[in-house]
Amino acid sequence: MTALLRLCPADDVWAGAILQATLPDGRKLALYRLDDAIYATDDTCTHGAASLSEDGTLDGCQVECAWHNGRFDVRTGQACAMPCEAPLKTWPVQIVDGQVCVVVPED
Ligand code: FES
Repeated sequence: MTALLRLCPADDVWAGAILQATLPDGRKLALYRLDDAIYATDDTCTHGAASLSEDGTLDGCQVECAWHNGRFDVRTGQACAMPCEAPLKTWPVQIVDGQVCVVVPED
């Protein structure tokens, strides 16, 4: 079973910016807009404890972590530049009534 959780208005996710959102369990996500699509990943870099929404920069489809310049593809979570090796978790996004929603597993 899965649930759809509303995070924020889609208009709040600006092109080039990275927006932080929080799930009910406290997990932080990072939201990105690429053209007309919005993507969601975990907010915490897999190399260290950096917040990608606070310390990251969006460059095309990649987010660069400012701590050590590792990179991830925000569409797939794949690590693209060292020292990042482990992928970022990605979250399926749906836009419902103008709201960004993520699909989460339900207990
Ligand atoms: S903490 Fe992100 S690259 Fe090191």
